[in-house]
Order: sequence, then structure tokens, then C-alpha cells
Amino acid sequence: MMKGDAMNRFEGKRVLVVGGGADGPPRAGETLAMGNGRAICLRLASEGARLAISDLRVASAQETADACSGAAAGPHVAISADASDPDACRAAVAQAESALGGLDVVVCNVGIASGRGLQAETVEGFDFELDVNLRSHVLTAQAALPAMLAQGHGVFVFISSLAGLLGGTGIAYETSKAALPAIGRHMTARYARRGIRANTMMLGLIDSTMVRREFGEIDGRMDKRAGAPPVKRQGRPEEVASACAFLASDDASYVFGTMLVVDGGLSIT
Ligand SMILES: NC(=O)c1ccc[n+]([C@@H]2O[C@H](COP(=O)([O-])OP(=O)(O)OC[C@H]3O[C@@H](n4cnc5c(N)ncnc54)[C@H](O)[C@@H]3O)[C@@H](O)[C@H]2O)c1
Repeated sequence: MMKGDAMNRFEGKRVLVVGGGADGPPRAGETLAMGNGRAICLRLASEGARLAISDLRVASAQETADACSGAAAGPHVAISADASDPDACRAAVAQAESALGGLDVVVCNVGIASGRGLQAETVEGFDFELDVNLRSHVLTAQAALPAMLAQGHGVFVFISSLAGLLGGTGIAYETSKAALPAIGRHMTARYARRGIRANTMMLGLIDSTMVRREFGEIDGRMDKRAGAPPVKRQGRPEEVASACAFLASDDASYVFGTMLVVDGGLSIT
């Protein structure tokens, strides 16, 4: 967006962001921790959206809601929900619908990464990571779909990772992230003609809360990440948010069931 070129693509839109808190340290010189989910909330609110923000850590979701409250629309609501719990996934959608009077857009951002390889993985660990990273997205979409079909429109954005296309992280992370685009494809094949648009973002190396929490203290790790993509820097959560805003908006009105790679060119090298 050009400076001074304000967009209001989400005026009157009701949006649920699952995992819209930020669980990690802030960037140097900043006080508000910035993750992908939080940056997406801030961007959509700045363009007029009214938000329901769900998170395991409701205080963190509330912090996002407060940070968004200076923006045009609101008030925004924080919802406590554990994405590993099927009932909580459904309840979060119901709460969001009731607080906002319906939903136009759902962004499924929640994701965790244990990093365990195949030999170290356990049944419990694998199930838990898949529950959070994959099942929660299916259940959230399933719960939000009926009212969207009834109103004749609805948009979904699933936040995935290059780990779903390339190896090298953890077995549960890679398999869960590889499966997310299938949800968008399934929804497109079945429901596009009834006004539902669902897409998936494949993120490269982003300097988000998730990463600063895991690697921020490890000497040289952040520099190594920055050096990996052709653009020679990590992405910013705000850049994830602007790409997400495109997919969630009517600007992407003919973009269906696809994967948008946001990776500074990492995947083509
Ligand atoms: N940073 C990267 O390099 C990168 C790359 C690819 C994909 N991603 C994806 O971005 C997303 C996360 O980014 P972020 O910066 O917002 O991370 P984050 O770790 O800050 O997570 C966002 C929120 O999810 C919440 N959360 C964790 N477990 C939960 C649960 N069981 N139920 C409900 N909420 C829960 C956390 O409390 C946190 O507030 C993930 O889907 C991740 O896979 C990140």
C-alpha cells in the first residue's frame, strides 16, 4: 500500500482470527510482541474489520484487541479457546458469530512446532500437534460454514508453511502443514459455487513471535535464517498480514483453492 493510500476493504466485515494473540518476545526496541496472527488482526482492523480474536492465552488475544482498538472499526472481542479441544473450536466460532452478528472471514493462524524428527516422535506428541495445526482448522471451518452458506458468502484463509512443501523441520509440523491446502481445495470444489472462497498461505522464514521464541536466543540462528532466501532477510509479520488481507478481500475475488507462497523467494532456490 502506498503511503496515504488508505484502503477500507474490510469495512462492515466480521472476522474471526484463530490464534490471534502473540506468544513470544517483541522485536528489539518494541514493546508489543508481533506475531503473524496479531499482525493480521491489526491489518484487517486498520481496513475497517470488526474482529473476534481467539487464543489459548486470552490475555494475549485481549492485548491484540486493545492494540486494534485505535483502528476504525470495533469493538473487538477476545475469546478463550484451546485449539486442541474440538468443543472449544466450535464454541469459539459460535461466540464470534454471536458477538459480531455473523462472520464474513475466518483466518486460521494457530500453529505449533515441536521440531521432533520421525525417530523422536511419539503418538501423543504427533496427535497433539496435528490436533492444533490441522484438526482445529477443519473443525473451525466446519463450524463456520453453515451460516456462511446461508448468507451466500464467506472467506477462509489458512496459514500454512513452506514446511508443507519442503522437508527439514519436524514430522508433525511438515505433515500438518502439507495437509492445510487440502482443506482449501476441498472447500473450493464443494462450496465455491455457493459463495465460499478458501485459500492457504505458505509462509517462508518470518521473524514472528513463534520464531523469536524458539530461536531468538540461539547465537547466529536468526542471521542464518535471514541469509537463506534470495532477498536476504526474513519476512515481517506485517508482510504476511498484507498478503493475507489481499486473499481475504474482494481483491482476490477470483482466487480459489490455491496456495499463496510468501517466502522472499526461498522456495525457488
Ligand atoms: N514464523 C515463521 O517463520 C512461520 C513460517 C511458516 C508458518 N508460520 C505459521 O504462522 C503461524 C503462527 O505465527 P505466529 O507468529 O502468530 O505465532 P505464535 O506462536 O505467536 O502463535 C499465535 C498464537 O497461537 C496461540 N496458540 C498456541 N497454541 C494454541 C492452542 N492450542 N489453542 C489456541 N491458541 C494457541 C498462542 O498463544 C499465540 O498467541 C503458525 O501457523 C505457523 O505455523 C510461521
